[in-house]
Amino acid sequence: MSNHAPDSHEAFPTDAPAVVTCGLPYANGDLHIGHLRTYVGGDVYSRALESLGQQTAFVSGSDMHGTPIAVQAIAEGVDPEAFALEWHEQYAETFPKFGVEFDNYGHTHDETNRELTYEIVERLESEGYVYEKEIKVAWDPIDEQPLPDRYVEGTCPYCGEHARGDECDEGCGRHLEPGEIEDPVSTISGNPAEYRDRAHKFFKVSELSEYLDGFLDRLEGTSNARNQPRQWLEDGLQDWCITRDLDWGFDYPGEDDLVLYVWVDAPIEYVASTKQYTERVGADTYDWDEAWREDGEVVHVIGRDIIQHHTVFWPAMLHVADYVEPRAVMASGFMTLGGKGFSTSRDRAVWAREYLDEGFHPDLLRYYLATNGGFQQDVDFSWEKFRDRVNNELVGTVGNFLYRSLLFAHRNFEGTPEADVSAEVEERIEEAIADFETGVNDYSVRQVGTATVDLARFGNEYIQREEPWNLVGEDDEAAAQVIRDCVQIAKAVAVLFEPVAPDTSAELWEQLAEDGSVHDVTTDAALEAPPRDFGAPSELYEKIEAERVEELNEKLEARVAEATAADDGDEDRTESDESEAAGDSDVSDIEPVADDRISFDEFQDLDLRVGEIVDAEGIEGADDLLRLTVDIGTERRQIVAGLKQLHDVDDLPGTRVVIVANLEKAELFGVESNGMVLAAGEDADLLTTHGDAPLGTKIR
Ligand code: MF3
Ligand code: ZN
Repeated sequence: MSNHAPDSHEAFPTDAPAVVTCGLPYANGDLHIGHLRTYVGGDVYSRALESLGQQTAFVSGSDMHGTPIAVQAIAEGVDPEAFALEWHEQYAETFPKFGVEFDNYGHTHDETNRELTYEIVERLESEGYVYEKEIKVAWDPIDEQPLPDRYVEGTCPYCGEHARGDECDEGCGRHLEPGEIEDPVSTISGNPAEYRDRAHKFFKVSELSEYLDGFLDRLEGTSNARNQPRQWLEDGLQDWCITRDLDWGFDYPGEDDLVLYVWVDAPIEYVASTKQYTERVGADTYDWDEAWREDGEVVHVIGRDIIQHHTVFWPAMLHVADYVEPRAVMASGFMTLGGKGFSTSRDRAVWAREYLDEGFHPDLLRYYLATNGGFQQDVDFSWEKFRDRVNNELVGTVGNFLYRSLLFAHRNFEGTPEADVSAEVEERIEEAIADFETGVNDYSVRQVGTATVDLARFGNEYIQREEPWNLVGEDDEAAAQVIRDCVQIAKAVAVLFEPVAPDTSAELWEQLAEDGSVHDVTTDAALEAPPRDFGAPSELYEKIEAERVEELNEKLEARVAEATAADDGDEDRTESDESEAAGDSDVSDIEPVADDRISFDEFQDLDLRVGEIVDAEGIEGADDLLRLTVDIGTERRQIVAGLKQLHDVDDLPGTRVVIVANLEKAELFGVESNGMVLAAGEDADLLTTHGDAPLGTKIR
């Protein structure tokens, strides 16, 4: 077993082939815009890497196996393979409609994946990492059948919430091993289940904790994905059961009545899908073998509910089988509606197809999903917020700048005026390119998008300041200069906005009479001269009217209300729900209120003040600490706070907080902390003010 991993990673672009993957969707139901958040994020990221000149394969596929498919197929009385294939085809058609263009979109139930899966499992066996053990599995004593994973539901042994057999989807979010769930009941027959002894195969993940510890040190990506696994490692890793009593899936080699657990063959499809891409384009264009077995830069884009699979089980498998380890994991937050999780079975969702049927351009949703909050933040979808972002930023800033400059250029100069780009504008474009590149290296999909909007905002200010309409006829040379600059900014917008808005960027490229495709150029093109002549532009983005939002809201609210009412009644849990709103902690988890009372005077000793975070940055050597600069009106305080793994650092500046101003000074990792920021609970939910009390106001 060799270790391919370097101790640290070189910045993108590198000379190695990159692989960007998106978590495989279970082929069992309609896609909604909550799903799309991850797929759009992955697509933006892979396009952005390519814009930097990084050789990249963007792959995914449908997850065809496991009880999420079997249970659903049984409920509909159909064959699981046919059932899953039908959904697979629908996904393959839907993604491109949102500009999500995988280089290969395969599925787990095909030959390429089967071969690779057997090769990897045999490797785990030959390296001595697999053993057999008798365990108790849930069993239906009336129907005489085993009840793996989602064939049962019951109570989570960790948090006491209602849970599925394979995961605590409504409570603590843990992956549950066979036999762990308490009070199991069959989801098929409704019969109370018993436990029976069965022999199963286990992967010795527990022996890999040292390796995984080092892996996490090297792992890049969003902070949730890098930090959450630390806790699991600290708690001690259990071995992982990799077989199931099920007749749908890949048979376990040499065992007739066991199939491989779906989570073994599913991520292997990342490799299989890349291999199929190479088989199509040739190894000279893209070499899957180099990418996965030599020096590839593997970036996994997933939802935050499957961090454990991607930062523990999957890298453990890759390591033993001698494949490269992931370079980064980007885990997106959940999307909610009215504060609750999307739910397929309860129709509490905005469906992908519905969005398109409403006639909205896919780039609008892409922009909204990519830039609305940090990638790991949970987002509550509303049509109003969608409209605000579209109208203010896409129409008001980007579209407005492009249309007014290109129209002016066309009318007065029939295209690009003869002049050199000014130093000021050249520098501003360079800055936008740098922001874009930093966004990629920080795994910030949002920054990749905002880099361009900020540039367009500058463009608007520039044209407003220079007033070329007053220069024409007075000082034509000066007018030519301003418009030459604006056309260059427009071209830079086309190049830099391509990852987020591929379709409208291609349209803009055409308006500029550029040759070739904007998808194929790198960021250098942002500074190259545009063609001399171009025609009249047309507007790229259309305003969304308020009435439209009202209509959409009414539809949605009615549906959400209905779904919520259904939640209170009898729930049908045999269907596959998306993660219901996580985060409602169990009441029994809450610390009891202290018995000891303090006097009012004692309370008065605390000097609590309103502050605002003005700056936040990491501290070398400290995984979860941030050095904050907090403005408390009269002064700026440096405060060290353990927020790093829990918040998007870029989001913190501008946040109002409450601080303890008269706490003794302390030193953490060599950095002085002068005060304390108040936050609630393990998620460090920051305390803030309801109104806008001035900074420095004392809290009593
Ligand atoms: N189908 C799984 C889910 O929806 C994700 C599989 S991702 C992979 O939770 F890593 F297995 F590929
Ligand atoms: Zn739980």
